[in-house]
Amino acid sequence: MSVVEVKTGVPYKIIIEHGVLDRAGELIRPLTKAIRAVIVSDANVAPLYGDRVRNSLEESGFEVSEFVFEAGEASKKLSVVEKMYHFFFEHDITRTDIVVALGGGVTGDMAGFAAATYLRGIDFVQIPTSLLAQVDSSVGGKTAVDMPFGKNLVGAFRQPRIVLIDPDTLNTLPEKFFRDGLGEVVKYGCIRSLALFERLEKENAADITDDIIYECVSIKRDVVEKDEFDTGERAILNFGHTLGHAIEKLGNYSGYTHGEAVAAGSAMITRISEKNGLTEKGTAERLEAVLLKYGLPVNSRFSDDEIAAATKGDKKSSGKSINFVLLKSIGECFLKKLTAEEFKELLDK
Ligand SMILES: NC(=O)c1ccc[n+]([C@@H]2O[C@H](COP(=O)([O-])OP(=O)(O)OC[C@H]3O[C@@H](n4cnc5c(N)ncnc54)[C@H](O)[C@@H]3O)[C@@H](O)[C@H]2O)c1
Ligand SMILES: [Zn+2]
Repeated sequence: MSVVEVKTGVPYKIIIEHGVLDRAGELIRPLTKAIRAVIVSDANVAPLYGDRVRNSLEESGFEVSEFVFEAGEASKKLSVVEKMYHFFFEHDITRTDIVVALGGGVTGDMAGFAAATYLRGIDFVQIPTSLLAQVDSSVGGKTAVDMPFGKNLVGAFRQPRIVLIDPDTLNTLPEKFFRDGLGEVVKYGCIRSLALFERLEKENAADITDDIIYECVSIKRDVVEKDEFDTGERAILNFGHTLGHAIEKLGNYSGYTHGEAVAAGSAMITRISEKNGLTEKGTAERLEAVLLKYGLPVNSRFSDDEIAAATKGDKKSSGKSINFVLLKSIGECFLKKLTAEEFKELLDK
């Protein structure tokens, strides 16, 4: 078992432990006066793990109900959250009760958003079951839903009371989603940990998931503690994401998964910055090799011009310039604000 403490406004622990699903009740009980707990989960994850979490919560004295929605990003929208509010109301959820998000990033983002807003905010717990959710989305308190005009555009900051990570759940995660999560894992290595990156090069990620999870959440913890509300340093977590979001958008969110788009975006931005002397020579090649090793793309089918045009609409841009995350070398990154014209110049050089 490992424990990572996050010292945000409301501090909390991240517990990484095989079989922790069966200890959910005993670990959550001391944190809350809740009488009722609502498990929120999707239709893939609920049948696999819902009963174990329910039994554990019931053994610790919670009255448990379960809200299950159709799996997939398409569900991460206000109309499903509204159904959740109705469900909470029908099950007499009060200000002191608790929401338990059991699933991938879609479940965590949406259940977190419902918890952040229902009755002006009730407690919630993250039990992430996808690699992406275990290394990234369950930590840091960003909750959101997608809007017809863009992803994650409506949301709230609300930290969970605890994050319970059971690496055993990855045994049932379909391979393509595991690969998707690795896109973010490589990102963590690039921005902050040469050691993690080297292990991804030398070993097989699937054999070292416990260490990967621990390393990634520790990095995310460090960044989030310094910048809980995303006004500065937290931007480094967007390495590969500015171009990645553009690639996702150009593919109408179905051509490339998020992890694939981030992989292609990180390779592309690193090639550009290396070519312009901003990144140590050989970095792009090394990054590409790791991405290819794990079946992730290093290019997209869109032209540089198409991607440059699509980055202009990125919500992470402030005013006229776009905040790019560039690598100095593997494990070290920096932020560089560029106008669309400056970016185009780097691209064309
Ligand atoms: N809040 C944040 O900071 C943050 C950060 C990164 C990404 N995100 C969000 O995370 C979402 C993507 O997360 P995701 O990739 O986990 O998507 P997801 O929740 O849709 O999960 C991917 C798929 O895996 C299935 N699944 C999950 N765990 C499983 C398991 N153990 N066994 C079998 N199947 C399982 C799900 O049912 C789904 O079909 C996006 O909406 C993204 O915006 C949020
Ligand atoms: Zn991401």
